[in-house]
Amino acid sequence: MSTDQADADLGADERRALADRLAGAGALSARWRETFEAVPRHLFLPPVYWEFVEGSAVPRDRGSDPDGWLAGAYRDTPAITQWDDGDEAAGRRDFTSSLSMPTMVALMLGDLDVEDGHRVREVGTGPGYNAALLAHRLGAERVMSVEIDRTVADLARANLAAAGLGGLRVLTGDGAQPDTGGAEPADRLIATCASLVTDVPAVWLDQTRPGGLIVAPSATLFGGGAVARLRVADDHRSASGRFTGSSDFMRMRQQRYQAPPVDAYLPGDWPGDAEASATGLDPEAIRASWLAQFAIGCRLPDLYYRRAPYGDTVTWWFFDTAVTSWATVDSVPGAVEFDVRQSGPRRLWDEIHAAWTAWEQAEHPGYERYGLTVTGSGERTVWLDDPDHHWSPPAR
Ligand SMILES: C[S@@+](CC[C@H](N)C(=O)[O-])C[C@H]1O[C@@H](n2cnc3c(N)ncnc32)[C@H](O)[C@@H]1O
Repeated sequence: MSTDQADADLGADERRALADRLAGAGALSARWRETFEAVPRHLFLPPVYWEFVEGSAVPRDRGSDPDGWLAGAYRDTPAITQWDDGDEAAGRRDFTSSLSMPTMVALMLGDLDVEDGHRVREVGTGPGYNAALLAHRLGAERVMSVEIDRTVADLARANLAAAGLGGLRVLTGDGAQPDTGGAEPADRLIATCASLVTDVPAVWLDQTRPGGLIVAPSATLFGGGAVARLRVADDHRSASGRFTGSSDFMRMRQQRYQAPPVDAYLPGDWPGDAEASATGLDPEAIRASWLAQFAIGCRLPDLYYRRAPYGDTVTWWFFDTAVTSWATVDSVPGAVEFDVRQSGPRRLWDEIHAAWTAWEQAEHPGYERYGLTVTGSGERTVWLDDPDHHWSPPAR
């Protein structure tokens, strides 16, 4: 670390304490620990950021509370650094850039299994902290990172320079596109923004050498997410491997889903022409399990839901992305049967119930029992235990 040494030296005790906690939880190997202790995370934080604590974004302002600002940098929490793609008038609806939670950073770097001399491509630079860790471990010239947001990319370059790692190349662009920045295929590719399991960018196969690894958080439209660890085949035409654990990353910018308004599905009053039935499965049970949502979302990748609470009851709405069908289920606390309405050519609740049943019959498999195969020709197959045992949707 060169430049402002006094600033870089801040937080050394806090950094060590965070590394202790991560190592104690089994997230941080001895090799990475050295790097975590050496790279100051606070150098990648702006004067005001929002610490994400138990579902709330808490502002940390260096001007009014420098100690709180610094302490937040060394807690195991994500730090939000941009809202709404930088649109100040949007009212802070969605966070669109951040420093990821240290535990996730450590686990994913562990999954990446880098060795001395490796070249790494990162997709989603954000403020540049993860790239800095890689650069400290491998050398700045061996790491290249791609960031879609111009302002964020500029800040990352400035942060990296302030940390003495200005030799790391940050490209401004879409990490799902074939721009290689003139680089050879990397030994490792790590994404720090999520792609849908059905839409893992095929270009990553070309950007990673045969035998190399892709570590990428994957999400489903239905909910749930997990980190995929894929090894690229010798012919470059596919990559395959298991998921390693749960994740909840912000989606790649071009993969955010804008749901149509409800009246695109149901132009008149509810329940319209919907068929009535009853179910013994409370959708709130699905909500309680991120893993169940992931399993259902992998099997039914074109479905999503919205919850509409009124009083104690929650009406769950289920939709398909083709805008052909919808279903509702009323979740009433304490009930054993729940009212169902289904409309359109598909019976969405029946499909979801069948996916839940398949998950139960498979005895609630953990993330590491699922795997993903991506081919250059566009197939994305989620499998259970073995690549021939498809979990992805059976053809309708
Ligand atoms: C969670 S942040 C990255 C965290 C970061 N690497 C760190 O050091 O903690 C995700 C970043 O991905 C970026 N992003 C989203 N879609 C992208 C895309 N298609 N290509 C490149 N970057 C993208 C966002 O702008 C955001 O800055």
